[in-house]
Parts: sequence; structure tokens; C-alpha cells
Amino acid sequence: MKNLKINIGGVELKNPVMTASGTFGSGQEYGEYMDLNQLGAVVVKGVAMIPWKGNPAPRIAETYGGMLNSVGLQNPGVEVFIEKDIPFLRKYDTKIIVNLAGKTIEEYCQVAERLGTADVDLLELNISCPNVKEGGVAFGTDAKMVEKVTKEVKKRSKQPVIVKLSPNVTDIAEMARAAEAGGADGLSLINTLLGMAIDIHKRKPILSMGVGGFSGPAIKPVALRMVNQVAKAVSLPIIGMGGIATGEDAVEFIMAGATGVAVGTAHFYNPRASWDVLEGIKEYMNQYEIKDLAEIKGII
Ligand code: FUM
Repeated sequence: MKNLKINIGGVELKNPVMTASGTFGSGQEYGEYMDLNQLGAVVVKGVAMIPWKGNPAPRIAETYGGMLNSVGLQNPGVEVFIEKDIPFLRKYDTKIIVNLAGKTIEEYCQVAERLGTADVDLLELNISCPNVKEGGVAFGTDAKMVEKVTKEVKKRSKQPVIVKLSPNVTDIAEMARAAEAGGADGLSLINTLLGMAIDIHKRKPILSMGVGGFSGPAIKPVALRMVNQVAKAVSLPIIGMGGIATGEDAVEFIMAGATGVAVGTAHFYNPRASWDVLEGIKEYMNQYEIKDLAEIKGII
């Protein structure tokens, strides 16, 4: 009998595979491709207090080995999320993790507080989105701010809080320690790397905002290195992500120190990628007669 269960902040997930925020909506579009019951958790697109319309198009650009996005955290606001998305997701046997968006500490706290009475399992504090002028990465690149916003959100939230870290820093371990000092129950990393693509015929950047977040298989080595660094710096559970598309990728992240894994960009070319990742993890466990993922977690 294999044990795939993991625990994040006191919440048990039946397996370590999740969807990365912003790549899976709230799951509706993916239901026809895969059985959402298979997922350890669905991590939904960032949710703010009020609707945000996001950045102007173009906000997606394909690159070698990945893509750039500059969506700008478009979302319908927390009330629509509570009314429409939670009842949809609750039909499935999977945990719900809500990515929190805000422009100020107070806004993050308000969303967390509002979700306190909602039927969701965990919160993911998004202080790493590179595509917004306020909040997001502006908070996630300053260790004092990471600690402060984590502490304030923790005071006002009922659910455990995962802090999503940005790779756009000199020392990600410092940010991880700051989140731990602020009371985080877990960490997720990495969010996207700030990047750019240029249309040489128009002589301007492809994305309307000029720059955007780079994700996909090309960032996996960076993500693995950062997960390994953070795993050695803190004792919090880590959700590793960045270019995961196969079970083998996921096993690498677990060996680097991740407790769980999130599949992101791969969903855009393979809508059942997270399912494939789960099956790949099981195959690896069979091949090497691994009974529990704890046997390989953090062995690097
Ligand atoms: O632009 C976006 O909505 C991206 C969000 C994120 O990277 O967290």
C-alpha cells in the first residue's frame, strides 16, 4: 500500500499534486479533461476584495521552453468567488487553496478575513506576482515586508496560510525565513521570473506592460535550486513548482525538499498534466518500491 498523503499546516491532502494558481482558473474549464477528484488540491487564481480587470492585451507571449504572462491578477472579486467557485469545487473530493491578492496589507487582510467564514481549506498569500504595481512582488522582495504582511494576514485568517515566494530576489532563503518569522504555515515557490520578449518588426515589447512573468520547463533548474535552498533554511512544508510537467519532475522537487508540488504552465498544452504528474509519481514509487514519499523527501 502506497502512502501519498501529505500535511500542510494541519490540513491533510490525499496526494501531493496541486494546480499552480493562475493556470487552472477554479477548475471549471478542466473538468472535461480530467477528474478533479484526483487532485490533492486545487489552488485557484488570485482573489481580491473587489473585481480587478487585469492588464491590457497582449498579456501572453510564448518563448523557448516556456511563456511570459502579464495578466495582472484579473479576478471577479471575493464575493463572486464565494458564490460561484466554492460550490463548484466542493462537489469534488479535493482541497481548496485560495490565492490571496491585494494592493495593501489591509486589502490582503480583508480577503483573508472574508474567507474565514467560507468553506476553503488553506490560503496562499500572493506576495510574488510580478505584474501589478502595488502589492505582489513589491511586498515579496523586502524581507521586513514579507514578515509584516504574513503576520498581519495570520492575525486575521482562520485557515492556515502558505506564503508564495518570488524568485526575483538575491536570497530567497532570507524571504523564507521572514515568512516563517511572520507565522507562515507553509511556503510555495517559485512564482514566475521577471522576463521580456521583443517583437523586432514592431520594435517594441510583445507584452503590453513591457515585462511579464516567465514560467514553464525552462525555469525548472532555477526553481529546484531555490526549493533546495529554502528547504535547508526553514522547517515549513514547501509546495514546489516551476516547470513541472511529469512525474519525474515532481520527484526531483520532492528530493530537493518539497512536501507537495504544483503543476502550472504544463496545463496550457496538456490540460490533464497534473493527473499525468500524479500517475508518474506513482510509477516512480512502484519502480523503486517506495511506500511513502517521506522516504525520498529532502534527500538532496
Ligand atoms: O499577472 C498575474 O495575474 C500573475 C500572477 C502571479 O504570478 O501570481
